[in-house]
Amino acid sequence: MTKPRILSGVQPTGNLHLGNYLGAIRNWVEMQSQYDNYFCVVDLHAITVPHNPATLAQNTHAIAALYLACGIDLQYSTIFVQSHVSAHAELAWLLNCITPMNWLTDMIQFKEKALKQGENVGVGLLDYPVLMAADILLYKADKVPVGEDQKQHLELTRDIVDRFNHQFGKGEKILKSPQPLIRKEGARIMSLTDGTKKMSKSDPSEQSRINILDSPEDITKKIRKCKTDTTPGLTFDDPERPECQNLLTLYMLLSGKAKDEVAAECADMRWGDFKKLLTETTINALQPIQDKYHEIMADKSYLESILREGRQKAELVAQQTLKDVKTALGYSLPL
Ligand code: AMP
Ligand code: TRP
Repeated sequence: MTKPRILSGVQPTGNLHLGNYLGAIRNWVEMQSQYDNYFCVVDLHAITVPHNPATLAQNTHAIAALYLACGIDLQYSTIFVQSHVSAHAELAWLLNCITPMNWLTDMIQFKEKALKQGENVGVGLLDYPVLMAADILLYKADKVPVGEDQKQHLELTRDIVDRFNHQFGKGEKILKSPQPLIRKEGARIMSLTDGTKKMSKSDPSEQSRINILDSPEDITKKIRKCKTDTTPGLTFDDPERPECQNLLTLYMLLSGKAKDEVAAECADMRWGDFKKLLTETTINALQPIQDKYHEIMADKSYLESILREGRQKAELVAQQTLKDVKTALGYSLPL
């Protein structure tokens, strides 16, 4: 029996942080043996906000290396770069033409990002979810493991599938509707400076996030300074204590302990002692990933060969879907 397929991706914009790791990549790693996995570095998405051409290629390689360093295994998974497979941009165009404008202007992430950018919002930012739909649909992905913030984009993808199949499928399901895979724990890792805001690459404050590649000194400093509260004892699930919830969740996920165990261990702790414990746990969890990352980045030709192979595998699947879509739309295909 063939395994169900997974597709997911991360943008090569800035450093990956614990939100990306715990909300997305860690889950990919844990589930990979059960699926046929495609993980892309979505560098076309990276230019929907102003970007620096001098660092785009380097950042793209860095994310691919981080996938491997976090434990993505090529025995189960294909790693590739979105811009290396031109079908992504091409399918995005075709889907654009069947996607109503108001579906896109309604997207929360668009509104938030557009607000941050002020006047010069590119069309690409509005169109971002259609490109994301193309990424997913090209591979006929069954499941898409992401953080909570991507849920709306997955719903849009499903709406596009229904509309396309209804208008052009002649009773056939040419495009496949994907299921979002959002784990409860870690789906929304919050900022270290405000437990009500998600940890994000675009927060101007470095103190707000722990990056996967942060040094032990930086991790120590950030956790020492992170926001807490004055209520005695540490507990999960108190809506009045978002920072406490977030920090206990980080400890739980990074230590691999069960929630009950963490709740019992930390119930009577003071913040000072807990912060020491969290610091040590975070450094220990990230150290092996960092070592592996530096090893991979030191061998450029190895990484390039993986991406070349990934592109070839991805291309085969993507071209077939693109062909099916173009045929359904009535195009004459080149012989
Ligand atoms: P991005 O950095 O926007 O490319 O996001 C890459 C992946 O990380 C996506 O699956 C996001 O849903 C996930 N992600 C980003 N920020 C967080 C966060 N604070 N908590 C949990 N998941 C996140
Ligand atoms: N929009 C996603 C994010 O910011 C990244 C992304 C692009 C993606 N294409 C995708 C995620 C396809 C899953 C599947 O997190």
